[in-house]
Amino acid sequence: MAGFLDEIEPLKQTALAELKAAPDLAALEQTKGMWIGPNGKFTALMKQLGTLSKEEKPAAGKLINVAKVELEAALAERRSELELAAALPKHPTDFTLPGRRRALGKLHPLTQVTDDIVRAFRKIGFAVADGPEIEDEYHCFDALNTAADHPARDAQDTFYLAKPANPQPPSANSHLLRTHTSSVQIRVMKSQPPPVRIIVPGRVFRRDNADATHNPTFHQVEGLYVDKNVTVGDLKGTVEFVFRELMGDDVKIRFRPHYFSYTEPSYEIDFTNALVKKMGKDWLEIAGCGMVHPQVFENVGYDPAVWTGWAFGFGIERIAMLRYGINDIRLFYENDVRFLKQF
Ligand code: DAH
Repeated sequence: MAGFLDEIEPLKQTALAELKAAPDLAALEQTKGMWIGPNGKFTALMKQLGTLSKEEKPAAGKLINVAKVELEAALAERRSELELAAALPKHPTDFTLPGRRRALGKLHPLTQVTDDIVRAFRKIGFAVADGPEIEDEYHCFDALNTAADHPARDAQDTFYLAKPANPQPPSANSHLLRTHTSSVQIRVMKSQPPPVRIIVPGRVFRRDNADATHNPTFHQVEGLYVDKNVTVGDLKGTVEFVFRELMGDDVKIRFRPHYFSYTEPSYEIDFTNALVKKMGKDWLEIAGCGMVHPQVFENVGYDPAVWTGWAFGFGIERIAMLRYGINDIRLFYENDVRFLKQF
């Protein structure tokens, strides 16, 4: 009996020492097997318990159980130490190294120019309105007094959507990607009584092949002002104010007679400043505008005998190209950071 009991303590001490010394998790598992696995030395000792006499058994059993608990505890402790060590980074962190800065994005140049346009108009009391990019012929053309045979309505010039086989409610009104933001004039006037003072920045679509100055989608700003006694003078003053805000005080504006079906009289607006001169040009055509046609007022339910107004539309890309000296419109849509980060 004394011999058996004497064996327990030294075996336990050796086992504890080996468990604590295991250099990694694999070695620890191996050590565990050597001692308390099915064929382990400590397990063998426990099996010998059966050969002891009735008197010897309780003391020996107790000693072995206590030792086993100790071994299990040592195993668990070493295992968590080693797991923690394995989870730590292989190389210590150097907190004196400079941080890795995450690149901050910035607004697209077209967004910046649009924001500036909106800011300029807000100063003189214009609100921003918008409308759908998928429009119908009524809002895009008919309500704007645009004749059925107008070239803008041709399939060569406009992206029409496939007609549903059985539209509900039945309708002859085709859907299309809006060719201009002018459609929003109609939507706004139909949804509120005059006076109206809005601008509409937005995306438009035309069947143009992409080249340095054309793209099948681009952006416009529409303006609409309706009140009593509105004049062409108000229109000129407004356009001049906004372009000076956008492009500087040396801006000059010129109105040339033109034709649009939704305005009468109608004009094209030419623009010049030092930048235009530098491009070797005297004037650059920049916008269309005019006094709202009485038929358009009729179409939206405004009394043309009472209400007067003007409208204009211009391209945002044009302004951005002028402002930044960009010579190819396609650069705006390529999403090349080498281009975008310059603005
Ligand atoms: N919608 C015209 C275009 O896309 C621009 C335009 C001309 C808008 C005259 C207007 C206007 O509001 O009165 O070319």
